[in-house]
Amino acid sequence: MYALIPAAGRGVRFGRPENKVFTPLLGRPLLGWTLQAFADCDAVDRIILIGSESELPRLREMGETYGGGKFADAVPGGETRQESVRRGILSCPTHDENDTIVIHDAARCCVTPELIARTIASAREPHGGAIAAYPVTDSLLREDRLQDLADNEEKRWTGDYVDRTALWHVQTPQSFRASSLLDAHRFAHDEAVAATDDGALYQRYFFRVEIITASPANIKVTLPEDLGLAEAILARRLTGTPLTPPAPLSLGRERGEPEGTQ
Ligand code: CTP
Ligand code: MG
Repeated sequence: MYALIPAAGRGVRFGRPENKVFTPLLGRPLLGWTLQAFADCDAVDRIILIGSESELPRLREMGETYGGGKFADAVPGGETRQESVRRGILSCPTHDENDTIVIHDAARCCVTPELIARTIASAREPHGGAIAAYPVTDSLLREDRLQDLADNEEKRWTGDYVDRTALWHVQTPQSFRASSLLDAHRFAHDEAVAATDDGALYQRYFFRVEIITASPANIKVTLPEDLGLAEAILARRLTGTPLTPPAPLSLGRERGEPEGTQ
């Protein structure tokens, strides 16, 4: 059972010169936390990292350090995530009916071994595919772009509210029957079909995939502010304690001081 971890992006939205997966996070590179979750998941046998050609040596080092003895290799990715994953799939030694492949973004460093295992278990059932996701909780709105009569500029205005019932945020891990996943990527490659994730490709060419309810804490570090969030989520998990409650605002009054001293 192979885990493929695409790490060949450039992290443009993260805004640092270096690939975000190497960013220090609680004393190790961000990717170290992602690898740890796969090392700790009993259902995973081998781990393949997918990276830019120039970063492969560094990724191999990280795989050895944090992969818990499961690290197999780091292989070159492509220009898009889909192409990176396709190359990773091709690098797996077998694509048998009975093999399962789990794909997980390197940038989702708060993933848990338990969530990985749940998607793998589902992919081993006849439907052959499972994705982690969580229900949309915010209101959803489709904007209208209209001219503001006052300044003659186009602005965004409220348009239609979209019913969020039955809508999900799609995440990784995503697990699939290896033979079908390989075919789905082959078909997509031949037909120049692009999708944002592997679940979309799998269900386009095969069957529907099961939704495995995950947590919004399984964040993808995308923007600079996500790093602090990831740090808080991991730190809380490590110490096993809830976040410190905020200090009371009216300290002066509690100390018996007159109102207005703050
Ligand atoms: N990825 C990849 N190959 C690509 C593009 C992305 O392997 N050509 C990986 C990233 O390294 C990341 C995951 O896919 O772990 C999810 O992608 P994203 O969060 O978009 O990361 P980046 O592409 O690095 O970020 P950005 O889009 O901001 O440049
Ligand atoms: Mg990207």
